[in-house]
Amino acid sequence: MRIAVVEGDGIGHEVIPVAKRALEVLRPDFEFYSVDVGFGKWQRCGEAITSQDMEDLSSADAILFGAITTPPDPGYRSVIVQIRKTLDLYANLRPVFGKGFDIIIVRENTEGLYSGVEKIEEDSACTVRCITRRGSERIARCACRLVKKRRELTIGHKANVLKADAFFRDICIAEARKAGVPFRECYIDALCLDVLQHPERYDVILTENMFGDIISDVAAFLVGGLGVLPSGNIGDQHALFEPVHGSAPDIAGKNVANPIAALRSAGMLLSYSARDPVSAQRIEEAIGRVLAQGIRTRDLGGNATTTEFGDHVIRELESMNRA
Ligand code: NAI
Ligand code: MG
Repeated sequence: MRIAVVEGDGIGHEVIPVAKRALEVLRPDFEFYSVDVGFGKWQRCGEAITSQDMEDLSSADAILFGAITTPPDPGYRSVIVQIRKTLDLYANLRPVFGKGFDIIIVRENTEGLYSGVEKIEEDSACTVRCITRRGSERIARCACRLVKKRRELTIGHKANVLKADAFFRDICIAEARKAGVPFRECYIDALCLDVLQHPERYDVILTENMFGDIISDVAAFLVGGLGVLPSGNIGDQHALFEPVHGSAPDIAGKNVANPIAALRSAGMLLSYSARDPVSAQRIEEAIGRVLAQGIRTRDLGGNATTTEFGDHVIRELESMNRA
């Protein structure tokens, strides 16, 4: 497999090398090449992502992605949103698991308020929340397929206020009935609280784009923060795996970022793109062993650096290889 590696900006330069090393240890047959995109590139070259970069990403079998800084400049289009749209990575899968709960958030990744239909005028601004039948059907089918391997679907929405959400909900319910999977629905605001109070009640949570973005950061509270949450951005032709977190400029360059989210993203790459759940499980096992020794980065209350934590995980993986 050919893997495109995008460190991006900020802590992407620190956590992605750890995740890449893990892949190299587990799969010496993989071929890696880097693609330089992001805010740093924009500052250097005036362009955050070129059409050649997009081609390089598009020709990969899978993409390992760090994070990209989005400056508050109205002329700058979010790079990750452009990549998700261009490669049609419509399903954003965000697993959140811990003691007594195992949730996967399935977020529609190309539509809603992130469709890019907006205008700013002198005294008003407007962003349109586009939701299509095709977009809703395919994300609902993806969530239903996951439910079949698991238990139950929860559809999170705000259909009581937003017509676009009533549309989305109705399509999701129709797909769940067609697939014969058990489902319930919940208003997204109530769901954000309930998932924190009763995480064990949830299995597959399906939402449109922005609500999924928000509830996955909310759910990060259950597991000690953003430093541990991976995600997959999956389409019919392409797949990109990245931590849920961003470039964390507040800690960038300090070697304190938690590489677990990036390592788990590499794990998702192994299970979804390489169909190698055994290697994916090894990453999880190695992380567990290192945490069990009390080694953790600052965000989890420890004092290990990014590289120290990474070195321990790599050592565990190497010892599993030898075993
Ligand atoms: P962020 O996720 O980068 O950081 C939020 C907080 O979590 C910060 O205090 C940070 O230090 C902490 N944090 C994040 N990852 C961590 C890790 N691995 N270990 C320890 N602590 C960690 O979100 P923020 O600050 O809202 O955004 C920063 C930049 O990242 C912005 O420019 C934003 O647009 C961009 N961003 C990019 C994303 C992407 O490329 N997919 C996703 C989210 C944000
Ligand atoms: Mg987010």
